[in-house]
Amino acid sequence: MPADAHEAGVPASPGQRLTWDRPVTVALLGGGTVGSQVARLLAESAGDLTARVGAPVRLTAVAVRERGKARPGIDPGLVTTDALAVATSGSDIVVEVMGGIEPARSLILAAMQAGSSVVTANKALLAADGAALYEAAARFGVDLYFEASVAGAIPLLRPLRESLAGDKVTKVMGIVNGTTNYMLTKMDEEGGSYDEVFAEAGALGYLEADPSLDVDGHDAAAKAAILAELAFHTRVTLEDVHCEGISAVTIDDVRAARSMGFVIKLLAVAEALPDGAGVIVRVHPTMIPRDHPLASVRLAFNAVFVEAESAGQVMFYGRGAGGAPTASAVLGDVVTAARNRVTGSVGPGESTYANLPILPIGSALTRYYVNLDVADRPGVLASIASAFADNGVSIQVVRQDGHGENAGLIVRTHRATDQALRRTVDQLRGLDTVKAVLGVMRVEGEAGD
Ligand code: NAP
Ligand code: HSE
Repeated sequence: MPADAHEAGVPASPGQRLTWDRPVTVALLGGGTVGSQVARLLAESAGDLTARVGAPVRLTAVAVRERGKARPGIDPGLVTTDALAVATSGSDIVVEVMGGIEPARSLILAAMQAGSSVVTANKALLAADGAALYEAAARFGVDLYFEASVAGAIPLLRPLRESLAGDKVTKVMGIVNGTTNYMLTKMDEEGGSYDEVFAEAGALGYLEADPSLDVDGHDAAAKAAILAELAFHTRVTLEDVHCEGISAVTIDDVRAARSMGFVIKLLAVAEALPDGAGVIVRVHPTMIPRDHPLASVRLAFNAVFVEAESAGQVMFYGRGAGGAPTASAVLGDVVTAARNRVTGSVGPGESTYANLPILPIGSALTRYYVNLDVADRPGVLASIASAFADNGVSIQVVRQDGHGENAGLIVRTHRATDQALRRTVDQLRGLDTVKAVLGVMRVEGEAGD
């Protein structure tokens, strides 16, 4: 940290009693959906924040792209388009809520170099290059907090990083994208087609500017990488996450799930295999039983289920998006970073000591649902069953719907590796008794094998 960055409040030696005699300054990079709410909360809660931090917390600047836009709640005198000047102003805390990789990354690094602690909601940047941010934070002796980057308002990262720090997390499984959860809920409850619910999500302003971030699972994958890294003390980036979105989910899949007592959710799943064998991180549409706690997470809500060796199962639920809920998480980090400034301390850095191998999706062990369009004649079931058996995939349930030319067969399996299931599906596609493989989906949340 440059010697002149903070004249007051910096201890001469660890443990020295401090006299903090000025406001904690906060600069915002971004004044959009989240940034404008952060500015509002900083102004509206000024008295409480002063009491909680031990010093006033003062907003000093807001960097935006276009100066002319109306920005209710933001003092126009603070607005500027010179983001680099804001980042390097030597504020105690720089809050990055502009999004994207660049210039956000360069601005955050410049802010840290100027001695500022950083609070960000930028999951895309953290999942792509979190290591560079952590490294700069350690080098310049500043804080890096990012609670709002995963599951909006829900306190999730701090519990993983701090409250569960004495335990061993084995699995994190959750609904971390509100838009796709809204769409799947509407398909399930109202029978809307994919195209109809996509249009509805767009009309409600839920879709990202690039909707593929939501529907193709990339947003959830970035969040899964962040969760996995914190849970397993192993560096995980976006590239390590197997990612499938919901665009191939049909209303027939949704109805089939319903008829079996299941519901389809886009789940982010991060699991550590026993004995340090490795970590698998995946995002994909998943069938879960209707009595599973995640099944009742409807519309745009998020929830994350954590399994730890001693704690057992813990669930976090709440609003995963929206200006005010996300700003609440940002403000929590601002308060923590501000308290650290006032007391002359720095929060935890990156913890990747476990350095577990990241395993490919082929090693993932789950149950499956396979929906087949088949000819209804003697011997069909036997040929299908042997395709499963040939690949070591054990069948749990088989259900036939219809008959003759309209026969459909739904198979649910016991746990099998992704690799084995893929080989089975390839073999099924080659059978003359199978007219089409209509759907294949992973199943989670059932007890047993
Ligand atoms: P947003 O509404 O698009 O706001 C982005 C803000 O950044 C705008 O004020 C924009 O300026 C400014 N900006 C963008 N590029 C800039 C540049 N190059 N230089 C200066 N200013 C720039 O985005 P948001 O929804 O608030 O999201 C912000 C971050 O929070 C993202 O990382 C997002 O992933 C994350 N997040 C959002 C939510 C949510 O519900 N919205 C939830 C969790 C996390 P203009 O106003 O002039 O365009
Ligand atoms: N597009 C994201 C969602 C926004 O739908 O959850 C919050 O990160």
